[in-house]
Amino acid sequence: MGRMLGSATVSQRLDLPERPPFSIRARLLTPLAAGGSRHEADGLLVVDQAGRITFAGRAADRPAEAVAAVDVRPWVLLPGMVDLHAHLPQLPNAGLGAGLDLLTWLEHYIFPLEREFDAARAEVAAPAAWRAFASAGTTTALVYGAVFEASLEATFRAAEAHGIRAVIGKVMMDRITYDETIDPATILDRSLREASDLCSRWHLRDDGRLRYAFTPRFAVSCTADLLRESAALARSTGAYWQTHVAEDEREIAEVARLFPEAVDYVDVYDRAGGLGERSVLAHAVHLSDRELRRLVESGTRVVHCPASNLFLASGVMPLGRYLEAGLAVGLGSDVAAGPDLSIFGSMRVAFYAWNAMRVAGRVEAPVLKPLDWLRMGSLDGARALGIDDVTGSLEAGKEADVIAIDPSFVAPIEGVSDDDPADLMSRLMFRAHPDMVRAAWVRGRALAGPAGRDGGEPGGSGASAASGASGEPGASGATGEPRESGEP
Ligand code: GUN
Ligand code: ZN
Repeated sequence: MGRMLGSATVSQRLDLPERPPFSIRARLLTPLAAGGSRHEADGLLVVDQAGRITFAGRAADRPAEAVAAVDVRPWVLLPGMVDLHAHLPQLPNAGLGAGLDLLTWLEHYIFPLEREFDAARAEVAAPAAWRAFASAGTTTALVYGAVFEASLEATFRAAEAHGIRAVIGKVMMDRITYDETIDPATILDRSLREASDLCSRWHLRDDGRLRYAFTPRFAVSCTADLLRESAALARSTGAYWQTHVAEDEREIAEVARLFPEAVDYVDVYDRAGGLGERSVLAHAVHLSDRELRRLVESGTRVVHCPASNLFLASGVMPLGRYLEAGLAVGLGSDVAAGPDLSIFGSMRVAFYAWNAMRVAGRVEAPVLKPLDWLRMGSLDGARALGIDDVTGSLEAGKEADVIAIDPSFVAPIEGVSDDDPADLMSRLMFRAHPDMVRAAWVRGRALAGPAGRDGGEPGGSGASAASGASGEPGASGATGEPRESGEP
């Protein structure tokens, strides 16, 4: 339930920490590795020199540090979100192509765009994209590039400079491709060599902050050789393997035609050695019981991208059935089939999609609760990547991958706030605002992008459709200025 607050009285500019060590006093909300979640109305986060969390708890338990801390109350600290599926070169076309099915949309809106994503384009677009991720509250992203090696080099360099935690892969396609300059006779070897070179340069760079994912686009655009060889490379290097699976009925029929020996779509990847705990498959909207069982047995990770699935009319993933079967699922924005980079938005659409299934009589199970969605968007994503020992929640010992949110942006009317953590999370997912994330840190290092840090210039907030017109949320305003006071 909301309650009315008196007017804010903070009068000095907030001096948000740039680098560790630091301590922040704020409201804290986080899932916990042991289960459940932690909420502290008056909390303290202490980050050491190395960017590790040494304390995340009640301010009253560390009174001396609490007094010295940067006090951002009533802002809320959450773990940074984990986006398990996004196509960085596609950002310019987010929100375009409504009404098309997957294969038509790829042909008309995506392949022509990715074809332009050369090194020069990446030099400009990638830094802006990383800022947009941070602005959306994402501190870890698993990302597809385009097919061009030099553009991936630029994308990695931009991630290195920006500070985000990222797993990135060069898209591999040897059956159909938009690279018209390449000789079909050499395409397989070249794709494998370039991916392998990128992996050797970037996988585990900066103490594991940057990682590589071998990225065969999907079975429609890859031969069995490419699938098999890329999976072997992922295994031998310890890098990830990511692709798309069972997204759309026409795509599934095409895969059945191209791989007649396979019993189903998942079997195409299984035969290639592509399943396992380092494999992340996006969509999985239409899985048979057999396919679901194989994914669970093999420990394969799956990404739920509900906004994309409804945009392209691909279908609705039966998430309840998958969770019950024990499938490891995290959330993805899937830009550009998804409209923006917000994982809070993915939670909202995932909730609606689940309820739509209930309305249609396709599921009985009650939909997940707000704090369950918070877990799926953060800690479960980190688990899917096998990095939950370092990120995904605000707990001592982990690296400080943190976001600060001004909850006045999600208040339905000025002066309303939520004392209850589930209510707060409910507003963050159902009323997510493009400017609500005011700061983001990875390993305690501030990321450029969020509006509270750098004024929210165009590109910083993901070129948001900000409703931040005059009069929008209260004290901190939507002007992009660092939060100052309740003064008019
Ligand atoms: N399947 C193969 N490529 C893509 C892509 O770029 N986006 C989506 N949503 N599905 C795909
Ligand atoms: Zn995708």
